[in-house]
Amino acid sequence: TKICISDDALAIACGADKIAAAIAKAAPDAAIVRTSSWGMHWLEPLVEVDGIGYGPATIADISAILDGSSPLKIGPIANHPYIAKQQRLTFARAGKTRPTSLTDYKASDGWTGLKTARELGSDKIIKTVVESGLRGRGGAGFPTGIKWKTVGETISKRKYIVCNADEGDSGTFADRMLMEGDPFCLIEGMAIAGLAVGAKKAFIYVRSEYPHAIAKLNAALAVCGHIIAPFEIEVRVGAGAYVCGEETSLLNSLEGKRGEVRAKPPIPAHEGLFGMPTVVNNVLTLAAIPYILTHGAQAYADYGIGRSRGTMPIQLAGNLKYPGLYETAFGLTLGELVHTIGGGTQSGRPVKAVQVGGPLGAYHPPAQFDTAFDYEAFGEAGGLIGHGGIVVFDESADMLRQARFAMEFCAAESCGKCTPCRLGSVRGVELLDNIKNGGRKANDRVESLLQMHNAPKDTARNVSDEISLLTDLCETMEFGSLCALGGFAPYPVMSAIKHWPHDFDIGENLLQ
Ligand code: NAI
Ligand code: SF4
Repeated sequence: TKICISDDALAIACGADKIAAAIAKAAPDAAIVRTSSWGMHWLEPLVEVDGIGYGPATIADISAILDGSSPLKIGPIANHPYIAKQQRLTFARAGKTRPTSLTDYKASDGWTGLKTARELGSDKIIKTVVESGLRGRGGAGFPTGIKWKTVGETISKRKYIVCNADEGDSGTFADRMLMEGDPFCLIEGMAIAGLAVGAKKAFIYVRSEYPHAIAKLNAALAVCGHIIAPFEIEVRVGAGAYVCGEETSLLNSLEGKRGEVRAKPPIPAHEGLFGMPTVVNNVLTLAAIPYILTHGAQAYADYGIGRSRGTMPIQLAGNLKYPGLYETAFGLTLGELVHTIGGGTQSGRPVKAVQVGGPLGAYHPPAQFDTAFDYEAFGEAGGLIGHGGIVVFDESADMLRQARFAMEFCAAESCGKCTPCRLGSVRGVELLDNIKNGGRKANDRVESLLQMHNAPKDTARNVSDEISLLTDLCETMEFGSLCALGGFAPYPVMSAIKHWPHDFDIGENLLQ
């Protein structure tokens, strides 16, 4: 009997290690294989006995699972509708292989993309990536092939590949799952990027909150060095700052400096790590590369809609019945993702808001559920798809509190380099507190100070005064901030005010 149990951090957090140990005792003759996760999080720990799944398993379920009588049976996992309906290109091996087994990787098409890349050479690799339509999966959606072309054409003695694995968006976990579940896929993508632009050295910048991913990457690199040689990859661990996911502060951090944003230009493609031309790509971008080189640009570009080509590993989280990883071609609507795939709220209460694209993404009401999941459509709906994280809230959510959280988050994580973000976020929290308290009262202490300087009187402000100040502030932050942290914090705030004015105790008419 072959029994597969995931060793992904989420499965372990749900008790997978204990289940594996208990099964080893109960069925000493069975072969227990620790695989990557299928990404059906609500079923973890998921136990697969000769292809048949049981989950979420507890120690008490083990004997019934082993004799096949357990009511937790979901049938053959690969045929489960949640899996069968996906288009898994990047996550093709999820649930099926042992993460750090070179044998499993080779047996599942591994290193074929790298072999093809070596045959094609730099120009043709870049041409293939351009034609695939792949765009940066970290959030900004910049065309990957064009970025590689820029680095390739920049003349320099040294160039670098840097993988941004500082996955900090709330509700996102696809980078983590990929690094823990299929580290060779990322390594292969990076080696291909190195060939494309003429870089021999690379770094993976992983957040310290991902110890399992760090261990798996190091274990994988220890056994595949000869395959990617002379290309070299080193894992570097961040220290827990959200802003180090911004590419220039990430580069500063890698150089051993304070993780502060650098002004662009120059873009890292021209002057990046240690001043050298550098490709900075997200984990999912680099992990999409082996498929593209193995199957060709067209095979990838055949998926998707408009200018959003290929697939996106969407991360369903928050108040959902079926949270997990869902890789699919661009184009499903937000409503399909939340209701049809995610099964609606776990609480059973109606959905109130869905935040897409991390803590700086907009909140979308059910009225926007017909928005197609693609870069442009979300931009038009006043939001962004970001790194593909979807967090669902039911009607008990207080949108004023959520808006305050965005400003508070920005204030806590700001690198402090520019004023709109450093000061604006703190003022934003104050304004939202004033709104919660029904406006702002005149302050005697401030009044006496103002009098000393013959300044206009400190007057009380009502809620709509505070909203208009907050709107001005958000505009300043959006257009005046140096990077996306300060620039995007207004999205959750303004979308919350726009779609749920009553949570701010204002009627829609006051918003005109
Ligand atoms: P950006 O639009 O400034 O740049 C996108 C990328 O394209 C950068 O790598 C930039 O260097 C590159 N680029 C721009 N022009 C280029 C050119 N002519 N040639 C070559 N490369 C060029 O966006 P930014 O600030 O890098 O990222 C913002 C995004 O990050 C947001 O959309 C947000 O969704 C996302 N984000 C993701 C997080 C995560 O956890 N994955 C966390 C926070 C934000
Ligand atoms: Fe730093 Fe915020 Fe300015 Fe970005 S927007 S550079 S995080 S202060």
